[in-house]
Amino acid sequence: MMLRVQDLSVVFRDRAGEEPFTAVDRFCLTMDRGEVVGVVGESGSGKSMTAHALMGLIQRPRAEVTGSAVFEGTDLLALSPEEMRRYQGRDLSIVFQEPMTSLNPTMRIGKQVEESLRIHEKLSRAERRDRALDAMALAGLPEPESVYRQYPHQLSGGMRQRVMIASALVLRPRLLIADEPTTALDVTIQAQILETLKDINRKEGTAILFISHDLGVVKALCRRVVVMKQGKIVESGAVDDVFYHPQEEYTKLLIASRPARKKLKGGRQDG
Ligand SMILES: Nc1ncnc2c1ncn2[C@@H]1O[C@H](COP(=O)(O)OP(=O)(O)OP(=O)(O)O)[C@@H](O)[C@H]1O
Ligand SMILES: [Mg+2]
Repeated sequence: MMLRVQDLSVVFRDRAGEEPFTAVDRFCLTMDRGEVVGVVGESGSGKSMTAHALMGLIQRPRAEVTGSAVFEGTDLLALSPEEMRRYQGRDLSIVFQEPMTSLNPTMRIGKQVEESLRIHEKLSRAERRDRALDAMALAGLPEPESVYRQYPHQLSGGMRQRVMIASALVLRPRLLIADEPTTALDVTIQAQILETLKDINRKEGTAILFISHDLGVVKALCRRVVVMKQGKIVESGAVDDVFYHPQEEYTKLLIASRPARKKLKGGRQDG
């Protein structure tokens, strides 16, 4: 067992004068090494807050995080912020929902991909560059050497998302959390990025916790899925069972209302 999450809850207390808000309510999950598991649910169901809590990105007193998340024998939720920083990006890593806000527009791509190498490892510039180029190739970026020198605005949305994946992979984490990594992208590019994630899982054995509001996309990538609604798990199991024999009305609605995929606005498309 690589990860065992038990009764993870996230309660926000930051809205002055309002009742505390439970964004995640006793979430449970187990993952084996190298496994790919999906989390699906409508907007606001608590998917991102679950991911952020696991990555130690929800800070008190903004919200209270309770429960446990034992990753390779260590309860991540019991770590101090300093201890957690040693895990972030190295042992477990996240690709965020909004690639544009996560990239620095004034910094070359290569530097950004090397960021966590700079934090966690003592390497020469040349070694860092080699590792970054490897991660960029693994993330499916064509011509990593030239992308390395470019700035975010010179890349298409799909390539920017691949840069985010490269940054998350540069230290070879055992667990990658991908929070709706393809939602804002064109359908064909979405499919290509899913293939890349599959490759990464196959080649590197990286376990992936894949978050999406689209059960069809989860089905293409994951064998197991957890369905969330209003912070709670309403259903979970083998993805084919959940997809073809949903037990909950909510899951049936999720399947029936496969959201129309948003097209990439303005930006170039990559091949
Ligand atoms: N700082 C905050 N204070 C209070 N409530 C918050 C805060 N941040 C998020 N929430 C609430 O937590 C709930 C879960 O949010 P979360 O971002 O996890 O949803 P999600 O499932 O990722 O949705 P989406 O598919 O739109 O990304 C939402 O109702 C959201 O409004
Ligand atoms: Mg989200």
